[in-house]
Amino acid sequence: MSRFRNLLPLVGLCVAAPALALDATMFDLSGIGREATAEEIAGWAIDILPDGTGAPEGRGTVAEGEDLFVMYCAVCHGDFGEGAGRWPQLAGGTGSLASHDPIKTVGSYWPYASILVDYINRSMPFGYAQSLTPDEVYAISAYILWLGDVVLDDDFELSHENVGRIEMPNAGGFFPDDRETAESHFWEAPCMSDCGAGAAQITMRAVVLDVTPEDDSPGARID
Ligand code: HEC
Repeated sequence: MSRFRNLLPLVGLCVAAPALALDATMFDLSGIGREATAEEIAGWAIDILPDGTGAPEGRGTVAEGEDLFVMYCAVCHGDFGEGAGRWPQLAGGTGSLASHDPIKTVGSYWPYASILVDYINRSMPFGYAQSLTPDEVYAISAYILWLGDVVLDDDFELSHENVGRIEMPNAGGFFPDDRETAESHFWEAPCMSDCGAGAAQITMRAVVLDVTPEDDSPGARID
């Protein structure tokens, strides 16, 4: 009984809590924090949409990107995007998606070039995120698109104007989740009442079936 006595003050607190919660002044948060300014929000809102909306102004060519990539990225991703050691591979793998060992890279897998610009702009080089200028980001992205055979001309220039219009090879490989219709035959409504023929019958009991482990069997509990 003594251990229950220790619980009593706790029970008392629980009963009192709803009454305290009603005292609104306890939770008055005015004076804490302030609305973010438009300028502060703009610093965080750097996302680029598939059609290029939000892309920072700038431009860069494949050739410019090659030098920058070798300087900032190749130590991890390899000179040609092949991946150094176990760092991620950025090029190659075209046509491998349906194979036993799919290789997902920018060229083989990504649906939009804008994601590439967005990703590099916000997070690369690894450990020095957001250190590149928009022109550098476009040039490096152009080089990666060229490595992945998405663009073939090494004079190609990527910019905020055309980034939303690049056709990626696997763009058609993505579609909205349609399992509710495409796999509707798997989704029969479960029976919720009067299911099956007649009421369930008890035909045997576990104790008779002898499914309970014996005391000395491997699965038996040892107290
Ligand atoms: C120190 C190593 C390192 C350096 C340098 C580096 N990256 Fe990365 N990169 C990574 C790692 C690690 C990931 C995976 C991050 C993750 O999945 O969260 C990655 C992922 C990526 C991806 C996405 C790959 C995918 O298919 O998911 C791209 C694109 C990329 N990096 C581009 C660049 C570019 C461009 C540069 C140079 C400006 C660069 N990286 C520099 C380590 C590095």
